Amino acid sequence: MANRLLIKGGTVVNEDRKFRSDVFCEDGLIKKVAPDITDVPPDTRVIDASGKLVMPGGIDTHTHMQLPFMGTVAVDDFYHGTRAALAGGTTMIIDFVIPPKNESLLQAYDRWRGWADEKVCCDYSFHVAVTWWSPQVAKEMEVLCQEKGVNSFKMFMAYKDVFMLRDDEMYYAFKQCKKLGALAQVHAENGDLIVEGSKKMLELGITGPEGHEMCRPEEVEGEATARAITIANQASCPLYVVHVMSKSAANAVTQGRQRGCVVFGEPIAASLGTDGTNYWHTCWRHAAGHVMGPPLRPDPSTPGFLMDLLACGALHCTGTDNCTFNANQKAMGKDDFRKIPNGVNGVEDRMSVVWEKGVANGKMDACRFVAVTSTVAAKIFNIYPRKGVIAEGSDADIVVWDGEATRVISAKTHHQAVDFNIFEGMCCHGVPVYVVTGGRVAVDNGQVNVVKGSGRYIPRTCYSDIVYSAITQRDKANQPQPVPREPYDGPVIQLGKPSS
Ligand code: URP
Ligand code: ZN
Ligand code: ZN
Repeated sequence: MANRLLIKGGTVVNEDRKFRSDVFCEDGLIKKVAPDITDVPPDTRVIDASGKLVMPGGIDTHTHMQLPFMGTVAVDDFYHGTRAALAGGTTMIIDFVIPPKNESLLQAYDRWRGWADEKVCCDYSFHVAVTWWSPQVAKEMEVLCQEKGVNSFKMFMAYKDVFMLRDDEMYYAFKQCKKLGALAQVHAENGDLIVEGSKKMLELGITGPEGHEMCRPEEVEGEATARAITIANQASCPLYVVHVMSKSAANAVTQGRQRGCVVFGEPIAASLGTDGTNYWHTCWRHAAGHVMGPPLRPDPSTPGFLMDLLACGALHCTGTDNCTFNANQKAMGKDDFRKIPNGVNGVEDRMSVVWEKGVANGKMDACRFVAVTSTVAAKIFNIYPRKGVIAEGSDADIVVWDGEATRVISAKTHHQAVDFNIFEGMCCHGVPVYVVTGGRVAVDNGQVNVVKGSGRYIPRTCYSDIVYSAITQRDKANQPQPVPREPYDGPVIQLGKPSS
């Protein structure tokens, strides 16, 4: 079959408008968006999209495929993870290179590329974590930006002695991001308080997964979020708060924006779709299956609150933090919650969960859905309009979406390698009928058909407009100015001499 595709009779949905149109793709690109396209070569495959929505493929801003973490390795690798992404309507992931302390960022980047390139089934890119600070790190950040297509760096405020930076180190890293035109990202939790809180829980005899939440309650996330925003603001650096899990963190983002800080907030499928009451489940495996950092919050109104903020634009785009561990891996912490590997699923279900809780629930329309699952991410991470829009010249990453159809999420039927699903039993409206990645049909009338290694690394340049135009303008307008005044010419006390 030639690499030509005509998607006929659907309703194209972009972040700004919906319209009836056909879409013609060739050689991996969208070549024509127009009603009633007929002049196509005879070997063109035609997909009937009547009654369906034709949307830009989802972009998952936050995954950790095959992450070596907490003594084990995340079970969804770059093959299973990207296959599952496609099965759910996501056509690009942005994963994280996380060097252990003192490792060269460039070496880590090369290692991660080696893992990903041979396995990815959809396009991908990398954020890089700054887990230690030195002049070498600063230099390598520059090389990553200028030569390796990285424009975002994650700093951890948790995982003390492993990944965590001190406030002054974070300030230096933010200053370097600013200098390079990159976006600073934070995992916002107070790592010192987590260590102390954990000791307190164990002293109380609490060793189960509920201890994971209680040792780091939401104010620990809220405090760190506000602190990160303050430090970024002092460095005049734009900030992106990854995995916003609580009302307190979301409020800190909103309040930061209200006082003029350039800050973006990323809720994830888990924080929008389920809650932390699961940590009190009497089945240990069920409770441990939800352990992640920052934790889900026991206040059951949290997911709806975060969705409201996402719908109105106070939060910006959605990731998943997909970082999955099987029962036997979670069981490393069966007697001590501190040893349960942190992480949950989401890469396959994010689109359906956001549709169900956002659109089917009446909180957002289809255009806002496209914005929060694809377009805003493309803009923030500077790959728009290559990604994030159905437009002539854009990559042919497309989802033909049935917003009325339903599916029930289950670990028994999902495409992820992990043996557990935090959304088990959830019935979601919104099903991807066809998913096209780089012009290839990867989900064909519901059937998943991917090619290992066919995804491409997508380099990203610095100075994303949506991120930096406000900063540049602010810097210009707020440039500190000295007060013009006559010099003081009176007497000056002489220190160390007795006054006469
Ligand atoms: O629990 C989580 N979030 N695991 C992945 C690492 C991280 O902090 O993002
Ligand atoms: Zn994190
Ligand atoms: Zn993460």
